[in-house]
Amino acid sequence: MEGLRIAVSKGRILDETLPLLARVGIAPAGDIGRRLIVDTTAPGVQLIIIRATDVPTYVAYGAADAGIAGKDVLLEHGGEGLYEPLDLGIARCRLMVCGRADVALPTGRLRVATKYLNITQRYYAERGVQVEPIKLYGSMELAPLVGLADCIVDLVDTGNTLRANGLAPLAHIANISSRLVVNRASMKLKQPALEQLIGALEALTRQVA
Ligand code: ADP
Ligand code: PRP
Ligand code: MG
Repeated sequence: MEGLRIAVSKGRILDETLPLLARVGIAPAGDIGRRLIVDTTAPGVQLIIIRATDVPTYVAYGAADAGIAGKDVLLEHGGEGLYEPLDLGIARCRLMVCGRADVALPTGRLRVATKYLNITQRYYAERGVQVEPIKLYGSMELAPLVGLADCIVDLVDTGNTLRANGLAPLAHIANISSRLVVNRASMKLKQPALEQLIGALEALTRQVA
């Protein structure tokens, strides 16, 4: 796997990704700490540690050969310049429309708070519903409670955040899990190393399934 740079994100994906990578022989050499580029126990394999939403950008531009990103982030990005060879089956959740359990949606134009503007626009356009998307960066569940939006498009896992804020799921948009993505040029130029990585991770996910 010599000569590969793999983009991973902090937070929950890293927590679930590090054990997977360790099982295919790629473990950070020493503490990650505040470092953004980390050598690993696999000769010539580096990890870069970035924001989840930035993974497709680094991989599409070839600044990383491969990366691990949520399907939500990939749907929002559009996936141009990327191969998506493998569903890793980690960080599973659902992308949903959610709203107040006690208030019906208005009949006119819907104000929808979300960090997924592209997905939201596509979803409602396909249904011929007029929306005003409102871009937020987190804590979307707050928006309908304080009159910023009529509903939200966000991730739901346990449903705890919805329940804690008096919200209910209204519609299912997509099932989400994390995917391995690969730069299209790297796939040709570094084929043996990438095939080894994909093969090793694929064997692992087959064991888990
Ligand atoms: P961010 O700071 O961008 O929200 P997270 O670490 O919370 O980063 O999320 C990274 C990815 O993990 C998301 O893109 C999604 O695929 C997945 N994810 C986010 N929230 C959850 C959740 N509650 N349960 C399972 N997976 C989640
Ligand atoms: C995510 C997501 C929901 C919550 C859903 O937020 O945006 O708010 O998890 O999980 P649940 O159904 O198990 O409650 P996160 O914790 O990542 O916070 P964030 O706003 O910082 O992304
Ligand atoms: Mg989050």
